[in-house]
Amino acid sequence: MLHRPIQVKPISGGLGAEIEGVDLSTLDDTAFAEINQAFLDHQVIFFRDQDITPEQQLNLALRFGDIHYHPYMLGMDDHPEILEIIKEPGETYTFGAAWHTDQMFNPSPAKATMLYAKETPAVGGDTMFSSMYKAYEGLSDAMKAMLKDVKTFNVGDRFKNMGGGSRAERYAGNKSMAGKVRDPGNQITEAHHPLFRTHPETGRTGLYIGSHTQGFEGMRAEEADPIIDYLRRHSIRPEYLCRFRWEPGSMAIWDNRCVQHYAVPDYNERRRMHRITIAGDVPY
Ligand code: SIN
Repeated sequence: MLHRPIQVKPISGGLGAEIEGVDLSTLDDTAFAEINQAFLDHQVIFFRDQDITPEQQLNLALRFGDIHYHPYMLGMDDHPEILEIIKEPGETYTFGAAWHTDQMFNPSPAKATMLYAKETPAVGGDTMFSSMYKAYEGLSDAMKAMLKDVKTFNVGDRFKNMGGGSRAERYAGNKSMAGKVRDPGNQITEAHHPLFRTHPETGRTGLYIGSHTQGFEGMRAEEADPIIDYLRRHSIRPEYLCRFRWEPGSMAIWDNRCVQHYAVPDYNERRRMHRITIAGDVPY
């Protein structure tokens, strides 16, 4: 069959594009190359009405890179590469309901995340995304100059801005996820990273900050905290955002090197998603 170019439709002025004309279960190399280019150009890409098995999702993930395993969360019994995110009616804790970029507490954080919707609320449960290129570009030259060599300190648990509780304590409000929490053992879950990160493929600079960020190397908390608070607020200005409404069969793939995201906790129905993270490089 003749390959037809995919259709890429941006969904906001900030970032994000919906891709049409693609069946993710049977991608040839030409279509994958176009998808990968759209991923780099738009930072987060979305697909609708996909019908794929866990094996097919895994095969697609492996085209982007190796699998990054979550140090704190167990994958599915039969597919350890896939973290099944579940929230049932009555559960109060929503996985991912803080602005963040995945696995920032790792010395080599996840390059990308792939989220596939299995069951979704009739309304609510959207995911929001923010362009960290736009956030960086939106800073004044003076702010860029002042912060250009700053390194952040990031942790995987007991975040200051989320009350300092452990994952096990926070997940008490979500029994479906509490059963998946694991002890990371001797895996490294703290990392220092440049506040301004160069994207290894596009060469563009982005602001690299998220809920895992606890401080700035070499600065006292009373010096760094107000700047971090400001940068958190600045990084989610409406003009840097897009928002995706899920349906069963929707897929999102985002670039953690230049995107923050936020799972909106505004629903009380079953939501079930299959999430795979792709291994990344040491940020510079
Ligand atoms: C995540 O933060 O990886 C989950 C996002 C979501 O469930 O919408």
